[in-house]
Formats: sequence, structure tokens, C-alpha cells
Amino acid sequence: MKKWTLTATASLLAAALLLSQTPQSSQPFLEKPYLQLGDAPKLSSSESMVLMWHTENTPAEWKVELRTSKDSTWRTAGQPLSLVVSAPAGEPAVAGKDGAKKDAPASPAIDPHLVYRARLTGLVPGEEFRYRGLKAGKQVFEATGRTRKSAGQPFRFALFGDCGQGTTAENAIAYQAHLAKPDFIFIPGDIVYSSGRISEYREKFYPSYNADEPTASIGAPLLRSVPFIAAPGNHDTALNNFRRFPDALAYFFYWDQPLNGPAVPAGTAKAAHVMTGSEAAQPIFLKAAGERYPRMANFSFDYGNSHWTVLDANTYMDWSNPLLREWLTKDLAAAQSATWRFVAFHQPGFNSSKEHFAEQYMRLLSPVFEANHVDIVFAGHVHNYQRSFPMTFVPGPQSDGAAIGPRGEVAGEWKLDKTFRDGASAKPKGVIYIVSGAGGAGLYNPEQQPDPASWQGFTDKFISQVHSLSVVDVQGKTFRLKQVSDTGEVVDSFQIAK
Ligand SMILES: [Fe+2]
Repeated sequence: MKKWTLTATASLLAAALLLSQTPQSSQPFLEKPYLQLGDAPKLSSSESMVLMWHTENTPAEWKVELRTSKDSTWRTAGQPLSLVVSAPAGEPAVAGKDGAKKDAPASPAIDPHLVYRARLTGLVPGEEFRYRGLKAGKQVFEATGRTRKSAGQPFRFALFGDCGQGTTAENAIAYQAHLAKPDFIFIPGDIVYSSGRISEYREKFYPSYNADEPTASIGAPLLRSVPFIAAPGNHDTALNNFRRFPDALAYFFYWDQPLNGPAVPAGTAKAAHVMTGSEAAQPIFLKAAGERYPRMANFSFDYGNSHWTVLDANTYMDWSNPLLREWLTKDLAAAQSATWRFVAFHQPGFNSSKEHFAEQYMRLLSPVFEANHVDIVFAGHVHNYQRSFPMTFVPGPQSDGAAIGPRGEVAGEWKLDKTFRDGASAKPKGVIYIVSGAGGAGLYNPEQQPDPASWQGFTDKFISQVHSLSVVDVQGKTFRLKQVSDTGEVVDSFQIAK
């Protein structure tokens, strides 16, 4: 008996040792499958999505199969296409050079790895479907996905920004998003901190949102089941030191979103992202990003009876540029038949926080939003939750005649609809501006929550003492937003009826 126990223990130890020595390349995934909207801005009676996953750089025979309510058996999805992604080592920071305050080590090289994309087609709007991944004929993954809703179907989305910082709050918000059972998740920028790098996605994004089991401490299996859609924030694409971090700008090769934004040639000043630094790393990045760079920074899409316009609000952009304004105006004008029009970008035009207070330049687009009947503008950047009164805004010049002050200030006059707050009407007069940037990164200005005197006149609600996410239900002509804390408490709610 004793001998058997010893033998069994020895076997277990040997097995444990074997497991710990198993080379990583035998694992099927570096990152498990995740759903993306893909370049599919419009609704279709036969919906599609893109399934992505990452593996080591060892080519293998991959196949994806799916099954909808219309399929009597598994059928094969589009042939997965792989892309080799890598990044050279960065150059160390040298004190006094490029504004560096002290010497700092370079970012290590990122080994070549494969990023797969498979197109899932023939999906039934509004329905769930099953899919499975097979490597060399052997099933290695299976999950349920949620297809985009058609114009006649109600839908729910969760929205939070400023999230991937590896915090316990990030995981708690991911868990709350999972409990809400959304059809999709929208991130209004600052997806991962602090520089949108491959290494940061691996440490602070995929583990939280593609965890195998839902728990408040670790995260939830969201990415595999619902598409995440995102606007780029400053921490995603505004890095100005590509030389130190050549694995940055991962937004352009780890995401797959519509490519219907303004056609601005890369490098066009103030109308698109402009790459700086690291001549060696640039061609490697450009090959991985392909046509997504820089075009995928702005786009629009339809979901149910709503139209979404997603903008790059980073400071390298100038939204007074006629080329950009023309695209925005045309996009919104073409969406007048949608019941709801939502605009989303990272840096808010209307913000009461002392943090980022002067960065008001996106206010200049308010007249365009108003003229085209935009209902809600969602932003992040400021790490708390703020809701404005329904409002209109007429921009005015700075004292020196400039449209924008040196730190981003915009002068002008706003008109507020305070009857909406009093519950006298569910029909707002003007646009409601939401800041929902409390998705995981450290909170800003908690001291302002109980101090309405510190808020700007346009602010109706200001919640800065808890992390939170927006959970929105759209059903026909009714819009309901609940702001939910990281422990599930509803900290704000409002409703619009058309
Ligand atoms: Fe930000």
C-alpha cells in the first residue's frame, strides 16, 4: 500500500514536471479566439463577423466550423488567413534626449507570432451561433457568439473606457459586463496602458476580457462571445516614441473594424495619425497593419436601429479640417433614417473634472452633431462618469480670435434643457454628452463627486468615487442607460423616449 502511494506520488510529480516543461509552442493559442465586427458597417440579412486568434509562429492547418439555427450540422467558415506580427527591440531612453527625464531600458523585441482571421458568414441576425476551432483536424476551442441585431430587434451594449491597466477594478468591470449579457461592448478609447503595445495587450487586455471563467477577481469570457468595438485613445495611438516602443500601435493589427472612414493618406498632418521614430520598426509595423493604418481610426457602423460614428479625437487630428468635416457631415446626414444616432470618441468636449479640463477642442463639432440630430455622444479619457444635460452649444472665438486656446480651450455659449432632469420630459432638447471612462484605470477627482459647485453648468451627474460601466438598452424608440458600479450598484440611470 505504502509502495503504491509512493509510486502514485512519483507519477504525479513526474506529470507535473512534464507539464511545467511542456514548450509553449505545443499550446494551441497565444491568445484565444475573439470576435470582431470586421469591415461590415451595414446590417445584412446574412450577417458576418471576423474571428481572430494568435498563435506561435509555427504554421498549422487551422479550420473554423460554425453552426447557426439554419444549419443542420457544422459547416466550414472562411479559410483562416494568418499574418506574421513582430517588433524589433526598442532603443533605450537616454536622459536629455527626446524629452526623456532619465535613462530607461529599451522594450524587448517581440518574437514573430501569427495573427489569424477567419470570416464567419451566413449568421442569422440577432441569434446566437456556435463555433469551434480545429488545429490539424483536432478540436481545440468551442464557444457561443452573438450576431449583430437587425433594425427591428432590441439590443443591449456595455460601454466603458480607460480600462486595460491590469487593475482589480478592470476585472470587476469585465465581470459586471458579463453579468449584463450585452450584445456588444464599446470601448471609447484607452484600451490598454500605457502605450497600446503588444506586451500590454498580452498582460492587461486579453487575460481580463477572455478569461475562461467569469469571476470578479479575474475577468470574464467576453471577447470570444461578443464583438468588442473601440475608438482609439491617446494611450492607444498617440504614442510619440515609436523608437522606444516598436510594439506600440497594436490597435491597427489586433483589431478588425470597418474601413469606411475618411480616405486620408498616411502621414497627412492633422488629418490622420503620423508615425514618428524608429525607421527600422516602421516597415514591420506597416506590413502588419496593412490597409487598417491609418484608416481604421475613424469609421461608422449600424447596429439594430442605431447608427454609430466613431472618431479619432487625438491631438494629432484637426476636426476643423474640411476633409474630415465633410466625411463626418455626410456620414451623419446619410444616417437620418436610423432611429438613434450615437457618436463616440475618446477626449470629451464637455468635462467637469479638473483632470483634462482644458482639452475642450471636440466641442467645435457640437453644431454638426446638433444639425444632424445626434442623440448621445460617448467619450472616455476622464476616469469617472459624467452626464450632461441635453444641450446645444455655439462655439465662439478665443480672446485672440483663435478657435482653440493653447491647451485646447473652446469659448462659446451653451443652452441647457433642465426639464429633462426634472423628469418633466423624456424628450431631450439637444445632445446628451456622456463620459464613461471609469472602466479600470485609477479614478480622477473623487473629491468632486459631492461638490456640485465644482462642476460646470452643463453637468447633471458626476460619479467619480467608484469604477463603473454604462449598460444601455435600446428597444425601438426607447433608450435606457444604467451606470453600474464595479460591485453591481446602479449609480445613475435615465431614459429617452422618441
Ligand atoms: Fe486618455
